[in-house]
Parts: sequence; structure tokens; C-alpha cells
Amino acid sequence: MSAPGPIFRPFEKLVKITLKGTEYQVPEANTLLRAFQYLAPETVPYGRFCWNEECQYCRVSYDTGEGTSARVGLSCKIMVQPGIRVLELAAELRYCLRGLPEK
Ligand code: FES
Repeated sequence: MSAPGPIFRPFEKLVKITLKGTEYQVPEANTLLRAFQYLAPETVPYGRFCWNEECQYCRVSYDTGEGTSARVGLSCKIMVQPGIRVLELAAELRYCLRGLPEK
């Protein structure tokens, strides 16, 4: 039996993302759902997420900055990029992230 790997993919720095108008620093080179886990380590791991692009509970709408168009995607698949703005969250994500400080 092998030991489980690290939760986060290796990263060297945190990058700024915006979640419903509030800025947060999250690890680069990880998926958005991992970034949410970084922000809410007490709740996201216990969410009903498959982490595998099947359940759809991690759906978000987002854009990549001022002047870009909004699109919908799965946060277990989308990679964090600086300046990404998460506009809407699926219900399970809203529940898991309900304790985050807002601006
Ligand atoms: S966590 Fe299930 S589809 Fe993303």
C-alpha cells in the first residue's frame, strides 16, 4: 500500500484571485477546487465533491479579468491563474465557502 500524495501540487507562490468580489491569495499550479480547499480546509474536504469531473457540484462561472467574457466550468478542472474572477458558485461550493471573510 502506498502513502497518499500531497494534497496540493507543488507551488512556489500564491496568486491573487477574486471570489464574488473579494480578493484571496491561493496556490498557483493547482485547480480552483484545491484553491477553495486552501481557503476553507475545514469544509471543502468534506463537501460532496468527486474531484473527477463527474458530480458537477463544483461548477462555477468565472472570467479571467476585466473585459473578458464569463464562462461556466468545473473548478476541479480549471487551473488557477492570476486575476481569475469567480462570479457564481454551485450550491455545494456556496455551502462549503460560506465561512470565508468577505470584503
Ligand atoms: S468535483 Fe465533481 S465534477 Fe468537479
